Amino acid sequence: MKGKIENILNKSSLSREDIVVLLSTYNSNECHKVFSEAYRIKQAHIGKKVALRGLIEYSNHCRKNCLYCGIRSGNNKISRYNLTHDEVIEACSFAMVKGFGSLVIQSGERCSEKYVLQIGKLLKDIKDRSDGRAGITLSCGEQSEEVYRYWFECGAHRYLLRIESSNRELFEKIHPANRLHDYDTRLKCLKSLRDIGYQVGTGVMIGLPGQRLEDLADDILFIRDMDIDMVGMGPYLEHAETPMYQEKDRLLPINDRLNLGLLMIAVLRIVMKDINIASSTALHAIDPDGREKGLLAGANVIMPNITPAKYRDAYLLYDGKQKIIDERGSSIEQLEIKLRKLGEEILNNEWGDSRHFMLRNS
Ligand code: 5AD
Ligand code: SF4
Repeated sequence: MKGKIENILNKSSLSREDIVVLLSTYNSNECHKVFSEAYRIKQAHIGKKVALRGLIEYSNHCRKNCLYCGIRSGNNKISRYNLTHDEVIEACSFAMVKGFGSLVIQSGERCSEKYVLQIGKLLKDIKDRSDGRAGITLSCGEQSEEVYRYWFECGAHRYLLRIESSNRELFEKIHPANRLHDYDTRLKCLKSLRDIGYQVGTGVMIGLPGQRLEDLADDILFIRDMDIDMVGMGPYLEHAETPMYQEKDRLLPINDRLNLGLLMIAVLRIVMKDINIASSTALHAIDPDGREKGLLAGANVIMPNITPAKYRDAYLLYDGKQKIIDERGSSIEQLEIKLRKLGEEILNNEWGDSRHFMLRNS
């Protein structure tokens, strides 16, 4: 007789209860079955391929004060920075020479006109210098529809904006109670991005205090129902200079959070077969092989950090991230060797757009 996990994996569509059962898999043999099925689906729908995107952490200034995040505006123990235009261009040139094909520009949330124009100027310059070859993803938080449209016209074509938790109550628990941190605004932004024509990415944190497996199952269903094109999600990791640090004793042990992060990737891949799923930096912060494990659980994107090393300590969203250095050095080669050993083909000079997006728009 087949086990419960095999029976669920054989179904053509998963219910919320099925997802909860898969996410509660603990025994390593059973976890392996879930990861293998997800990997099989990835191979069938996307191929044994991985896209590398150069991640540039443009600025750690942020107007928000999320209760979990190390660069929240209330943390006055960090020094704030902005990369110069030339530093970004230099990082982009590295990415292009390496054949990454795509970049991610991430930043704390800012809204001054000067900032909006600076990002616009960068987008145009990157496009010009690469003869349009560089694909650009932005991850710069909540903005007005007008700003999103302006950046789209300047050359960005993918946008990541995590919902953090699709459970409104949990979202409210992990954010200050004010208009700047509003669940409905986040939903509205995701909708504007879609209407403008971006490939839209979202994601959640996994293992938040008080988060149940049912909440995570709902996160997967939220991503499915929103018809999201790309997902970046990873384990929640505490940061000592944040209010949520007080709840650290309520968290799952770190290896269980890692495993749950991998199971989330795998179940999402089973549910959404052709979207882009990133193997997150938070997995890497827990385990030096965390990103490779994410790929074997169904992810198909890795975002090596190419921010200049001198800013590394200032973009600490969570404890442990300082281990992740500017990967423009030898660690990129090591990553590439590890990926090839896994038999993964690294996309060369391709944007690596979400198949899901392309099929929806064809
Ligand atoms: N642990 C894990 N992820 C975090 N992020 C911010 N703080 C943390 C943390 N403590 C993630 C959020 C945000 C992204 C930029 O980083 O999901 O959207
Ligand atoms: Fe700012 Fe994003 Fe951190 Fe919130 S999670 S404080 S918006 S950088």
